[in-house]
Amino acid sequence: MNHEFVEKNLPLMVVLIVFAISFGFLVEIVPLFFSKQTNEPIQGLKPLTALQLEGRDIYIREGCNTCHSQMIRPFRAETERYGHYSVAGESVYDHPFLWGSKRTGPDLARVGGRYSDEWHKAHLYNPRDVVPESNMPAFPWLFEQRVNAEDTPKKIATLQTLGVPYTDEDIASASDSVMINGQPAYEIDALVAYLQNLGLLLKYKR
Ligand code: HEC
Repeated sequence: MNHEFVEKNLPLMVVLIVFAISFGFLVEIVPLFFSKQTNEPIQGLKPLTALQLEGRDIYIREGCNTCHSQMIRPFRAETERYGHYSVAGESVYDHPFLWGSKRTGPDLARVGGRYSDEWHKAHLYNPRDVVPESNMPAFPWLFEQRVNAEDTPKKIATLQTLGVPYTDEDIASASDSVMINGQPAYEIDALVAYLQNLGLLLKYKR
């Protein structure tokens, strides 16, 4: 009887739906904003270096995150393959975060140190040279294009306003930090520097 009343009374129904949904938000989401576990950096977490940050921007520009997640789920099948499952405290400095969910290729959350720089370069130049069955695209232009060192300080300053603990000195030295032999680094060097830093802080000993 009461239920029929609610179902036939549209404004009341809308109010109750909104209440039910916001209750879910309050209980499930709001506590996360205040939980230490989700918004405090894990021990030893440092912001990306200027070169790694440029690498991250290339990673986004090339759409690597559309085929690769950076989020190891806490299941045995995942941790056996990729290492320690991802924790929120590892990505508190990431704006935007690159967890993703689409895995055409393997998860990259802990790819840092798994291969040599040379392997990454050969692989990104033409994946089939090192993994014959690979269907990952080749990225040869990264070996010709250089990082735009003028933009680096602005990127770091922006992240600083978002709460990433960069110092003013980091901003001042940012352009110099992306120079290799007096010239802005090739994009490939920035990207590999980024990849080699991924997930180093938590690893299962193997
Ligand atoms: C169209 C989907 C696709 C895109 C885009 C893509 N990849 Fe891949 N990637 C793959 C696949 C599939 C593999 C597995 C085969 C292989 O190793 O080449 C892979 C493998 C890798 C591996 C080896 C991981 C491991 O643990 O063996 C790395 C590192 C990697 N990709 C980095 C990148 C980077 C960096 C970019 C962007 C510049 C990128 N990928 C873009 C599909 C993609």
